[in-house]
Amino acid sequence: MIKEGSCIFLKPEKKGLFYNPKGIVSRELGVALLRVEKQLKGDIKVLECMAGIGFRTVRYYKEAGINNIWANEANEEAIEVLKENLKLNNIPDIIITNKEAKKVLLENALNENRFDFIDLDSFGSPSEFVFSVIMALKIEGLVYLTSTDGFTLCGLKQTASIRNYGVHTINSKFCHELGMRVVISQFMKCAGNLNMHFEPVISLYDGYAWRIALRLKKGVENANFDKFGYVLYNPQTKEYKLFENNKIEGDGLICGPIYLGSLHNKEYVVKLIENSSDLENLRKFLEKIMKEEEIPLYYDYQELCDIISLSPPPRRRIIKALKKRGYLASETHINPYGIKTNAPYEVLIEVIKSLSSKL
Ligand SMILES: C[S@@+](CC[C@H](N)C(=O)[O-])C[C@H]1O[C@@H](n2cnc3c(N)ncnc32)[C@H](O)[C@@H]1O
Repeated sequence: MIKEGSCIFLKPEKKGLFYNPKGIVSRELGVALLRVEKQLKGDIKVLECMAGIGFRTVRYYKEAGINNIWANEANEEAIEVLKENLKLNNIPDIIITNKEAKKVLLENALNENRFDFIDLDSFGSPSEFVFSVIMALKIEGLVYLTSTDGFTLCGLKQTASIRNYGVHTINSKFCHELGMRVVISQFMKCAGNLNMHFEPVISLYDGYAWRIALRLKKGVENANFDKFGYVLYNPQTKEYKLFENNKIEGDGLICGPIYLGSLHNKEYVVKLIENSSDLENLRKFLEKIMKEEEIPLYYDYQELCDIISLSPPPRRRIIKALKKRGYLASETHINPYGIKTNAPYEVLIEVIKSLSSKL
């Protein structure tokens, strides 16, 4: 048996079925999101596209009080274990289907049976599911997606990146935030094609995968497509520049067009914190996210110190010095050496140099 949260599960033994302890933060985030959505909307209709052996299904039912939940999973053997796990936790009948996810999504869309919350916990890239998810989601509904497409999103597979996301990516220390923005952009662009748009609710990288919740909104008026731009990166100096239009000046590698706006709705993150007193793993991430400045990307200060051959001063001192000079600066939950700042690159280097000489 495995215990997670207030639930118990059978230890999966058959080949192809598994328990992923690294997924705990994502399951906690799903629980917290559903608690908040329920507070905001009352009873909600949830579709779990890829339920596996039911870790999320059970936790969503028991810990978020969601009983209108439809669990789908393509692997028949996983469904058998999922049913056992429901019984173990005294969960009465819910809808369970054994279909390919896009089929369930599109069948429901055609029947006008749309969902308030769609959980998309796919392996690799979620891009093949984007269109069907949008079709099956209610306006104001949330898609809660996972991406483990690390090689592509971190700039190591350019052809796959063009195919899946329509952009070139960059391999850099900030690739985990860039990758997050690339995935979000793909959902936004597809929604835009369908005359709708998405707004980010929370975007988290847990060291293993991206976990992102986006809200579907009606129409494209007042949408965030004007927040799309380009990133220009110099692999020698590690400097990056952001362009909110296509007048790009300078040399280097380009990524774009991608979404450069806010990654979180901070008011909503406060609600998630209020609803996660029993979700310890998640809380730590949420508290860090609350302290993050909403500035795209970050510098890895250790990498900058390597370039200028100085031993790194503590991160908090660099942040303090940048703030003292009137710039915004903060940590990021994504990288323990990351600094988000609106200070120009030269200022950051100068600050690091001034602090390093005082070591
Ligand atoms: C990452 S696991 C899901 C784990 C589960 N959500 C959890 O938190 O424990 C991905 C699951 O998706 C299923 N799957 C993969 N592709 C699928 C598809 N196209 N349609 C439906 N299920 C799929 C796999 O069989 C696998 O069980």
